[in-house]
Amino acid sequence: MDFKFTEEQLAVRDAARDFAQNVLKPGVIERDIHAKFPEAEAKQLGELGFFGMMVDPQYGGGGMDTVSYVLAMEEISKVDASMAVCMSVCNSLVNWGLETYGTEEQKQKFLAPIARGEKIGAFCLSEPEAGSDATSQRTTAEDKGDHYLLNGTKNWITNGSSASIYIVIAQTDKEKKHHGINALIVERGMEGFIVGEKEDKMGIRGSDTHTLIFNDVKVPKENRLGEDGFGFKFAMKVLGGGRIGIAAQAMGIASGALELAVAYSKERQTFGKEIHKHQAVAFKLADMATQVDAARLMCLNAAVKKDNGEEYAQEAAMAKLFASDIAQSCTTEAVQIHGGYGYVREYHVERLMRDAKITQIYEGTSEIQKIVISRELLKD
Ligand code: CAA
Repeated sequence: MDFKFTEEQLAVRDAARDFAQNVLKPGVIERDIHAKFPEAEAKQLGELGFFGMMVDPQYGGGGMDTVSYVLAMEEISKVDASMAVCMSVCNSLVNWGLETYGTEEQKQKFLAPIARGEKIGAFCLSEPEAGSDATSQRTTAEDKGDHYLLNGTKNWITNGSSASIYIVIAQTDKEKKHHGINALIVERGMEGFIVGEKEDKMGIRGSDTHTLIFNDVKVPKENRLGEDGFGFKFAMKVLGGGRIGIAAQAMGIASGALELAVAYSKERQTFGKEIHKHQAVAFKLADMATQVDAARLMCLNAAVKKDNGEEYAQEAAMAKLFASDIAQSCTTEAVQIHGGYGYVREYHVERLMRDAKITQIYEGTSEIQKIVISRELLKD
């Protein structure tokens, strides 16, 4: 791995940092309190090209590499993990899936508007009884010749109400089990498609997580991604890359907590000196910095492998597993270092602590990452 970032990569990181500090930070506490999606901020971030970072410029994207994406995700997640998950779903799950497996028409119609920042995408796999056990899809896509008839419910869908383009995973042929699953592109406004209840969450409260209901939604055949029955593999493939994004989100949350803890430890005095001069605090900071650095390297390692066209499923799962765990420990320590101040909203670290938890759950729980890693490790 080359440890030197290019000028372009650094410019992307700096632009994301400026945006996070100047645009996202001022309203982030209010959005968390009121569980408000950062609508205006998302529009601006999209216009700056952060929702189509890796998409080919011919489809309106930035043509950047995954390393730049990791750097940008870190900066956005340091400040606003809710904005970061919206960005991650668009870049990794939706765009990558559309660009890699979509037809030319699908790319022009669905990918380009997301890449240009005009529309937001969502990825709909989870169901009331199919979260980790993703093959147990109850949502059905009945083959009706020129269209599929889509029926069912999807749960915990990120960008549920802000998206216009949804990739929905559904079962067409139950007999064929996971070989009978399809990935369909559903548009907002299609008859029978209802955006249901919004979740009232512990963390990433600015992210709009919804139940989605499909009642006899007619989805044209040309909206299917890949061959008939490719839907489960499609989902597994996009989740592999998505895990780099969520790993970077978790690492960014930890990195944000570290920055806040370092700054606070230089301001706050106890027993006649700044608290970083107490070894109890300095050692915590040293541990946090070591963990953040390790997580960043793991994210970048997975990103470089992806950019080089190498297999990266194991590295992405490892990065997500590790980064989400250290996001938990670093944010908890950041609260501890802040003492009573850490427990109140104004100091940001309590929100980071709540936000960190989801990174051990979505895009595959930590246990799912261990399945992916051990299978790769043990395969013949
Ligand atoms: N690439 C390609 N194909 C893959 C694959 C991959 N990475 N992983 C599995 N497959 C294929 C297998 O080869 C197999 O196909 P064949 O039968 O043709 O060989 C098929 O998929 C089934 O594989 P398994 O038998 O291994 O499936 P399994 O039922 O044992 O489960 C699993 C595998 C890894 C546990 C999988 O179910 C999984 O990843 N679950 C977690 C799902 C998940 O991440 N959900 C999160 C929802 S999305 C989200 O959170 C987004 C958001 O809002 C932020």
